[in-house]
Amino acid sequence: MPYTPDAELDLMFPPEQIPADVKAALPQDLHIRPLASSDYRRGHLSVLSVLTVVTDPGEAAWVAQFNAMRAAPRTYYSIVIVDHSDKIVAVGTVFVERKFLRGLGTVGHIEDIAVDKSQQGKKLGLRIIQALSGISENSGCYKTILNCSDSNIPFYQKCGFEKKENEMAKYAPERARTPRL
Ligand SMILES: CC(C)(COP(=O)(O)OP(=O)(O)OC[C@H]1O[C@@H](n2cnc3c(N)ncnc32)[C@H](O)[C@@H]1OP(=O)(O)O)[C@@H](O)C(=O)NCCC(=O)NCCS
Repeated sequence: MPYTPDAELDLMFPPEQIPADVKAALPQDLHIRPLASSDYRRGHLSVLSVLTVVTDPGEAAWVAQFNAMRAAPRTYYSIVIVDHSDKIVAVGTVFVERKFLRGLGTVGHIEDIAVDKSQQGKKLGLRIIQALSGISENSGCYKTILNCSDSNIPFYQKCGFEKKENEMAKYAPERARTPRL
C-alpha cells in the first residue's frame, strides 16, 4: 500500500508550508507532510516513544488533542515522514510563540523530534529539522530554539544550530498533571 495522498487527509495545516526543497531531498519511497487527524493509526505514538515515555490516551483523546492544537491559528506545526507502507517513521513539531518584545516578534520552539529506530542515520532527523526551521522562518520567527541532551548536540550542530545559554526545568508534582482535554 503506498502512502495516502495529502488531498485525502485531514491535515493540521496546509502542506505547501513545508519547504519544497526539503520534500524534494527525501528518497522516493518516503513522504513528508503535516500531521493528519488519522495518524494515531499510522504509529504516531510509537515513533514518539523512542524519545520518551508515551502513555497512550486512546484514539478519541488523541484526536481531541489534534483538534485543540489545530484550533490555535498559526501556532502548532506538527509534521511526519511516512514510508511506502503509510507507516510514520519520523515526527517533529514547531510551536510559534507570540511576544510583546522585538516589535511583537515570534519565536519558533522545536519540540518532540523522533525518528523510528529502524530509520535512524538516514538523514530523516535532518529533514524534519530543516522543514520545521523553514516553517518557523517563513512564519516570521526571528529565531528558532530547542532543548536537547548533550549527546544530541552534534546532531543539532549538523542541522545548523549552535549552543546558547542553559535550560532550566521545574517538574510539577504528580497531582497537578491531570489531563485537561
Ligand atoms: C536524534 C535523532 C532525531 C537524529 O535523527 P537521525 O535521522 O538518526 O539523524 P540524521 O541521519 O538526520 O543525522 C544528520 C547528521 O547528524 C549526525 N548525527 C545524528 N545523531 C547524532 C549523534 N547523536 N551524535 C553525533 N552525530 C549525530 C549524523 O551522523 C548525520 O551526520 P552527517 O550529515 O555528517 O552524515 C534520532 O536519532 C532520534 O530520534 N533519536 C532518539 C530520540 C531523540 O533523542 N530525539 C531528539 C530529542 S532532542
